[in-house]
Amino acid sequence: MYKVKLMNKISSVGLDYFNEDYEYGETLENEDAILLRSASLHEYEFTKNVKAIARAGAGVNNIPVEKCSEKGIVVFNTPGANANAVKELVLCALFLSSRKIVESIEWANTLKDDENVGKTAEKGKSNFVGPEIEGKKLGVIGLGAIGVLVANAANKLGMEVYGYDPFMSVNSAWALSKHVRQAKDMDEIFKTCDYITVHVPSTKDTKGMLNKEKFALMKDGARLLNFARGDLVVNEDLLEAVESGKLSKYITDFASQELIGKDNIIVLPHLGASTPESEDNCAKMAVQELKDFLENGNIKNS
Ligand code: MLT
Repeated sequence: MYKVKLMNKISSVGLDYFNEDYEYGETLENEDAILLRSASLHEYEFTKNVKAIARAGAGVNNIPVEKCSEKGIVVFNTPGANANAVKELVLCALFLSSRKIVESIEWANTLKDDENVGKTAEKGKSNFVGPEIEGKKLGVIGLGAIGVLVANAANKLGMEVYGYDPFMSVNSAWALSKHVRQAKDMDEIFKTCDYITVHVPSTKDTKGMLNKEKFALMKDGARLLNFARGDLVVNEDLLEAVESGKLSKYITDFASQELIGKDNIIVLPHLGASTPESEDNCAKMAVQELKDFLENGNIKNS
């Protein structure tokens, strides 16, 4: 009997893959493996039975990966399984960053008791003009599963897409075949693009990569989307860039106190992968990886 400790709510579509050889739950002890989504294991005391951890998601920064490898614990993730969900939210953010949808909804809510609401709304709408995205330049930093989907979708919406990946060497034929112009370096993206979206993991090399030097290179009024990880951005520098108008909008999927309630900043509560389809896909992939490892010793996506 294998014991799998659940540290978050996991879709039953995945859990159904566990057969009678498995026991799983939140209160298990002496577990052989851990299955989780966003719970942090940084303070977790691993018992000696633990052989594997599977994250139903792509990023593994909630898991102390180095400590695990010292202990011989294999860490799995589910790259690509939630890419479509994140892509769709990024596209939504692209429109939100351009058209003043959030601001106009907030204002419209204040008109509840206005007897001339129709007239007031017509008058007020001039405050909520925002540009179309067609024909504008979008820079995609990070061309993994999510970045490539975003790039292709934006291209179909008529945007001119520039791509750059700090880890992969992307050959230009590949980039062209995906309708992405390969930027020669990251600075080209900052200098050229009207909209920038970042899709790299948080590592020691990428933490703080969006800082005052990079904001200074950006076009005046550029818009920045961050659905990758909050710590890629130096918040103090970002606030300065937004306050000065250098950045006309920042939309992030990562809450932090200093960004909440600020003009021209929209903070979402880490919703990128929150669709039933993505939760099912991630759970299914994570459970299959765990089983294949525990039963056959196979290691995939570690
Ligand atoms: C990811 O790393 O794939 C996402 O953070 C997943 C999630 O929202 O759970």
